[in-house]
Amino acid sequence: MLSSPIKKGEAYTPEETQRIVEQFHRDGYYFFGAVLDDDEVDALRSAMIRKLADPRIREDEQGDHIRGMSLMRMFEYDVAFRDLIVREPFAGIAEAILGGDCHMMSQNALYNAPNPSQTADGPGGWHVDDVLFWPLSDTVVRHDATLLPPCFVVNLLIPLTDVETVAFGPTQVVPGSHYSGRQPSTQDRPSFEGQSPVSLLTKAGGGYMFNNQTWHRGAPNVSDRTRYLGGVTYARRVITQRLYPFIDYRMPAHVWEGADERLQRFLGRHSKGPYG
Ligand SMILES: [Fe+2]
Repeated sequence: MLSSPIKKGEAYTPEETQRIVEQFHRDGYYFFGAVLDDDEVDALRSAMIRKLADPRIREDEQGDHIRGMSLMRMFEYDVAFRDLIVREPFAGIAEAILGGDCHMMSQNALYNAPNPSQTADGPGGWHVDDVLFWPLSDTVVRHDATLLPPCFVVNLLIPLTDVETVAFGPTQVVPGSHYSGRQPSTQDRPSFEGQSPVSLLTKAGGGYMFNNQTWHRGAPNVSDRTRYLGGVTYARRVITQRLYPFIDYRMPAHVWEGADERLQRFLGRHSKGPYG
């Protein structure tokens, strides 16, 4: 069995889980606060640094290992990232939102080098991930707040460097914007029904999740420090995994080593179900 620096963690009680899931559906995101210990953070960050400098990764240009600022399929590269997928309390909340048969859709870590020419308040990068799942026509103002918003994809992000002020380029979200049925209304501090962007500030090892339909961005990193960001993207079983090269993807055998049943399912080893 591979030894992993990632701890099992502690799941929330059913009551806490219910409260968090309700808050997540209402706001479109949930901020966990500090979760990972320093040794877990170090393991994840050093895996990113190693991968960025790894000649085998750099030489395998067809492998799609690094795409711009994204380090793709981190579970393949380091067991710490693999085991992060089932780290509590994240995995239990992902299952509560997406179903007990949900999976890791992708696992791309992000790094943002300092870019002092950007301004922290200026325009840049507000979006929803992928297409709008729940769009509205121009004549309808918003979705009814009494409806439970659909959630197919949850993005869990964990800064691996301290991001305690806006200068360090925090993830920002607009609360409630997953009810808008629209793309962000503007690139300049978009708001939804009076709710302005919230900066998710945390020391390294803090975590937060958002519905991929919630307006969000990585604020410009105007500090003098590279921002390293780990995490997991979880999805309902009906949403296919996005592991390049897709139908020709084969998960490397070492990823399965020592993986228990739950982790195997998160990695995509499903029971039979609807459609197949
Ligand atoms: Fe995004």
